[in-house]
Amino acid sequence: MTTIIINIKQLVNVREENKLLRGTELANLPIIDNAYLIVEDGLIKDYGGMASGKWQVENDELKNDTLQTIDANGATILPTYCDSHTHIVFAATRESEFVDKIKGLSYADIAAKGGGILNSAAKLATTSEDDLFDMAFARLTELIKLGTGAIEIKSGYGLSVDGELKMLRVIQRLKQISPIPIKATFLGAHAFPTIYKENKQGYIDLILNEMLPIIAKENLADYIDAFCEEGFFSVDQTETICKAGIDAGLKVKIHANQLHLSGGVQLGVKLQALSVDHLEAMDDEAIETLATSNTIGTLLPTAAFFLRMHYQPARKLIDAGCAIALASDYNPGSSPSGNMNFVNAISCIQMKMLPEEVINASTINGAYAMEVEKELGSISKGKKANLIFTKPLSSLAYMPYSFGNNLIDKVMINGAFV
Ligand code: NIG
Ligand code: FE
Repeated sequence: MTTIIINIKQLVNVREENKLLRGTELANLPIIDNAYLIVEDGLIKDYGGMASGKWQVENDELKNDTLQTIDANGATILPTYCDSHTHIVFAATRESEFVDKIKGLSYADIAAKGGGILNSAAKLATTSEDDLFDMAFARLTELIKLGTGAIEIKSGYGLSVDGELKMLRVIQRLKQISPIPIKATFLGAHAFPTIYKENKQGYIDLILNEMLPIIAKENLADYIDAFCEEGFFSVDQTETICKAGIDAGLKVKIHANQLHLSGGVQLGVKLQALSVDHLEAMDDEAIETLATSNTIGTLLPTAAFFLRMHYQPARKLIDAGCAIALASDYNPGSSPSGNMNFVNAISCIQMKMLPEEVINASTINGAYAMEVEKELGSISKGKKANLIFTKPLSSLAYMPYSFGNNLIDKVMINGAFV
């Protein structure tokens, strides 16, 4: 089956070379104006300018039942977003904490009261795997309509052997039926459960000796993650857990430097982490360490927005030469939205990233941050035809500028509209 898409106002992020972008490279967003795109069997086959007439040749050669021509009518086409950090398997929303926060309680106050992550863990313990699956699948379906074409999903609301395995099995089932690629991350080290409050080593032993062996045996995760933060997991505890994950065949991602200068960035770089995520609290040393490493800095600005924290220092990170990705952190506590269009808008508005930079950070660099760069993240020959068709745009910058408005007309996944 071949589809020729014609009259594309702008074909965005067209790349022959696959490359993780760092520093000034992020501002370079290759675009073909007035373009065509050819999709064959769900993959990108060719592209170019309408004026070249090459699409017409293909059109004439293939004029048979297996050819369809779509007139984009001046839509802009982008590669779908690669959301490399989410927690979309959860049992219940937490808007009562949202109201508590409005009344003055801090994230740490709520966590100390047994709210926050522990609240989500209590709800998850009494929710069946099937119900969790149905809720997560509904979220996934909504996110695809918002332009997400690959997603990473974490455990971390189980905090018991049964709970963590239940979450990872839900993610495994999602992987089996999802039209978009999914990566699974084991985040058993998200918080210490109340029963281990006085016996932290006991919970770490549970992760190392009971959870990880089953996860490795059943191939339930691609990555290991830990919340390296004051009041959660120390640098030493995070290191122990991540090293055990590496021994079990998992690559490292770390929740680092969200609330404090935790040392999580330096640890992530030392462990050759795929990414260190959050990065609200950064000093020059952490920035320099990240800039001179192969670890991706994944910024989660909607978490900073929702928690009313200061934003990640995106400009400093880019100026220092870091490789930056953007992700939604979709979770019930700190970012109850997975809308990557809003992530991009807020990154421009609050972190002073350029429209070109946010698109690169949420597509090609997001793909690298979840290791789907060979199949997604740019308009490249042989990659999946996972595409965003926009409503008419005056220019590409109109997308992040016009925040909160839905500018997506339709989304194509594997060559078919959803
Ligand atoms: O990435 N920071 C730690 N974990 C999540 C929030 C989890 C929650 O509050 O439920 C995050 O922001
Ligand atoms: Fe997170």
